[in-house]
Amino acid sequence: MIEVAADVFFLQTANPSYWYTHTEHGHLEHLHYGPLLPPQDPAALAVKRTIGLGSSVVYAPDDTAYSLDAIPLEYSGIGQGDYRLSPIDAVTAFGADTDFTYRGYRILEGPVPGADLPTADDGEGVQTLEVTLADEVAGLELVLLYTVFPEVDVITRRARLRNTGDSPAEVVKLASMQLDVPDRGFTVRSFDGDWIHEAHAHDRPLSSGVFAIGSTTGASSNRHNPGTLLIAGDADDDHGWVYGFNLVYSGNHTTSFERDSLGSVRVLSGIQPQAFRWLLAPGESFETPEAVLAFSDAGVNGISDRMHRFVRTHITPRAHRELERPVVYNSWEAAFFDIDEKRLMGLAKQAAKLGVELFVIDDGWFVGRDDDTAALGDYAVDAKKFPAGLAAFVSKVAKLGMRTGIWVEPEMVSENSELNRAHPDWMLRVPGKDPREGRHQQVLDLCNPAVRDHLVEQLGALIDDNGFSYVKWDMNRHLAAAYSPHVAHPGMTAHAFMLGLYEVIDRVFGPRPEVLLEMCSSGGNRFDLGMLRYAAMIWTSDDTDPIERLSIQGGISQLYPLSVISAHVSASPHQQTLRDTPLSTRFNVAAFGCLGYEYDLDFLTAEEKREISEQIAFYKRHRRTFQFGRFRRTSSGRAERVIWQVGEGDAAIVGNFQRGVRAAPERDILPIAGLHPDAVYAVEAKPQRIALARLGALVNHVSPVKLDPTGLVMNVVSKHKSLPDGVESYRGTGSLLATGIRLQLQFSGTGHTDTLRMLGDFGSTLYTVVREENP
Ligand code: DGJ
Repeated sequence: MIEVAADVFFLQTANPSYWYTHTEHGHLEHLHYGPLLPPQDPAALAVKRTIGLGSSVVYAPDDTAYSLDAIPLEYSGIGQGDYRLSPIDAVTAFGADTDFTYRGYRILEGPVPGADLPTADDGEGVQTLEVTLADEVAGLELVLLYTVFPEVDVITRRARLRNTGDSPAEVVKLASMQLDVPDRGFTVRSFDGDWIHEAHAHDRPLSSGVFAIGSTTGASSNRHNPGTLLIAGDADDDHGWVYGFNLVYSGNHTTSFERDSLGSVRVLSGIQPQAFRWLLAPGESFETPEAVLAFSDAGVNGISDRMHRFVRTHITPRAHRELERPVVYNSWEAAFFDIDEKRLMGLAKQAAKLGVELFVIDDGWFVGRDDDTAALGDYAVDAKKFPAGLAAFVSKVAKLGMRTGIWVEPEMVSENSELNRAHPDWMLRVPGKDPREGRHQQVLDLCNPAVRDHLVEQLGALIDDNGFSYVKWDMNRHLAAAYSPHVAHPGMTAHAFMLGLYEVIDRVFGPRPEVLLEMCSSGGNRFDLGMLRYAAMIWTSDDTDPIERLSIQGGISQLYPLSVISAHVSASPHQQTLRDTPLSTRFNVAAFGCLGYEYDLDFLTAEEKREISEQIAFYKRHRRTFQFGRFRRTSSGRAERVIWQVGEGDAAIVGNFQRGVRAAPERDILPIAGLHPDAVYAVEAKPQRIALARLGALVNHVSPVKLDPTGLVMNVVSKHKSLPDGVESYRGTGSLLATGIRLQLQFSGTGHTDTLRMLGDFGSTLYTVVREENP
């Protein structure tokens, strides 16, 4: 709800409030972003202008206490006495000097859709406040848009700049939002990494100066996700003040945090200014991506809950928003480029028996694509690999009871491709310089309308002619030498590329809403809210090692819901880390996301097949909870022990994961949150087995006959037999379970029983929590 009274704008969600006003000189002064307060005279919350300060520039000679450097502002300018980083750098005839003052406001029902960028979708009670500011001397008008999503406790912001003057202006920087709040001993949390190591959470105490994260790769990037948190000094997972920020944008971005000496913190977030320029001819406008702001006084889990509900209700594509994501089998880690109809049909038959619902043909299916050096852009089915064609393959898979999906990498072109030979001028490159290569491929110039039309036609035909119901859209290199002759200034290329990409995706999938789109960029190189406006899920990382995934999924889930986090079970030892992990843990981690499998089913033992069938059946039974239940992290107090919970109220699932074992392990306590205190619940460890091979010579402690751990008998027996692992069940009220279950002891070399938890390094258990009907 938005209320305006006595020049104060009250933006009220179900929980937090966001207030600001305009000052006597027309600047927008920020008053409050925090717990819900009833609208009232905000004087007590305002920063006082009791007397002028030394070493400051005053705005008006007759008002010596009014210095913009000391006022929390909604959107500052340059050259008026505020020496913190400015959200805007727009060059006119007078340089970068800008002074935006208040002109008026409008309240609109619903969101205001972005002119050419994706923005959050409508929903119950959504309203937008448009506040207009202007600097007539510079010839610029600035409209700030605030959209309030009351039922998910989120506010979004963006800015629109219009050239109202007679001469051209150049936008060097235009942030989507600025937030000035009092410091509460904040720590900044960012989600950083690289290929196969995405979204690891890093914390730094905020101190004097500026800390910034960002991307210059052309994508939101695996270097630094655009989402960040500002965590108060006394906050933790469940308590205290936390602010969350994100951008509905997939290109170069930056978010900076600046603490000044007066105890104020300024957050700026938006398009990355490095190498960015946007020319504004008289009358033209430029609109920023939408920034997302959340506040919670219930710790990081509170922010995650708000961001998750916002993404599920206002970001993911409508047709898939409420739909459970299918269990996927993907051919990549089983076969890489070595695929053909016979091999894939063999895998499909086995996948169907295990309970898989969607079979994905990954890279390698088109002419010339036998490795990653050629053929991107061509997408003509390789008749040697698929003699009957793709449509025939899709219908055979349908007979097995599964849908089929296809892999493409539309933004790219191989130099060795028919497309490049026909259109050598379709790639991004600087004239006179060699093109810069990444994974042996080049980036198509999506600023060129002919390229966009070609892609729309090519992809539409691929989907329609073969009956694909899913597309994995990949993107495997960063932008470099980003020059296009199709924009008015080279600095416009990266953003224009992104606008072109959004247009292509919209034109392909808009008319085909039923097709499930999974985004991928070498894993999680483009895991952002811009992509999620079109894709119902994103491939989180090429790294499927469950221990690495504890960090990757543990990081990304702080801002994105489990229903968009794609997570697959793959072979062990892992192809990137060589870590050998139990099949149970590989599943237990992947289940906290959209489950899939991608390894060679030909080499599974009977015991492993049985285990995987059980895993898929278990996941399907609890899929709504896994994908749509409330997710929270529970602190165990030890870095090597991770606890995740999904669901609350009547049913929940709790995962207990051990990154590394300690000899003589500590007694583990498992608290379960969010239950009705007086209701009674049954808690049960998901039945799982421990492979005999994992025990090595220890098997002789439980075997009635002596076995050679490396011998033939052991080899054969372990393909068909395994041991029960950690059989546990409990009963108790929600209040008792919140206190914490003292779990069964772990193996410590003194023998074996069925209830002993055989965790070791990388072990884990899932616990189902179900409310009893008649306690
Ligand atoms: C990178 C993706 O992340 C992988 O899953 C796979 O699709 C390969 N590309 C195929 O080239």
